[in-house]
Amino acid sequence: MRKTIIAGNWKMFTDVDEALRLVSDLKAAYKNKNKIEVVVCPPFTNLESVYNKIKDTDILLGAQNMYFEEKGAFTGEISPSMLKSVGCKFVIIGHSERREYFKESNELLNNKIKTALKYNITPIYCVGEKLEEREAGKAFKVIEAQIKEGLVGFTAQELKEIVIAYEPVWAIGTGKTASPAQAQEVHAYIRGLLATLSDKKTAEEITIQYGGSVKPDNVTELMSQPDIDGALVGGASLKADSFLAIINY
Ligand code: PGA
Repeated sequence: MRKTIIAGNWKMFTDVDEALRLVSDLKAAYKNKNKIEVVVCPPFTNLESVYNKIKDTDILLGAQNMYFEEKGAFTGEISPSMLKSVGCKFVIIGHSERREYFKESNELLNNKIKTALKYNITPIYCVGEKLEEREAGKAFKVIEAQIKEGLVGFTAQELKEIVIAYEPVWAIGTGKTASPAQAQEVHAYIRGLLATLSDKKTAEEITIQYGGSVKPDNVTELMSQPDIDGALVGGASLKADSFLAIINY
């Protein structure tokens, strides 16, 4: 059985006080009705303080990015061992905002995934097409390249340790969610691609999250799709009540 994982991506929001308030509110009302894995991904500067609040709960910590080198003269970058040392179990890799604004390529992301796995940090590898790519009928081609190039060179065992997040760029922060059927179609396609990189059985075990305007009122229907195994939540993870409603879908 593959795992269901719902992660909150706080993006570049929250200073230390705000992060502590958010995580305290989350903790105070925390229930995990579905017994899923719940992850919060604050900015780097808040990882340690958030970890200290959640370490006695089953809420897990993730970072939003990481460099692929283990240490060295890379001013401004953060390594996987640094993330580990503040309690991170997950790291988001290749979010569309990083692909778009920081020009991260599939090849670079492949290296980041490789290093994350080496340090036993679960990468959440994001893929997804832009609106113009969908309208030009190129969505599947774009996703194929992101999957095949980003995940080249991994064994079946390694692939099972990676979480995929399908996030159509046109649905991120726009309030426009992919319909459950649209999302399911792409998730099934991604699972098929994963089978070509390994085998069908391995592909069946890989968690594929959906992301893009997930809210309390659309999560249930999305989660009822056979190939949707969780969510990567942006805006709605910044309020304890909406994130709790999502995880208890
Ligand atoms: P959103 O963001 O839920 O605000 O659309 C999702 C994401 O960017 O991971």
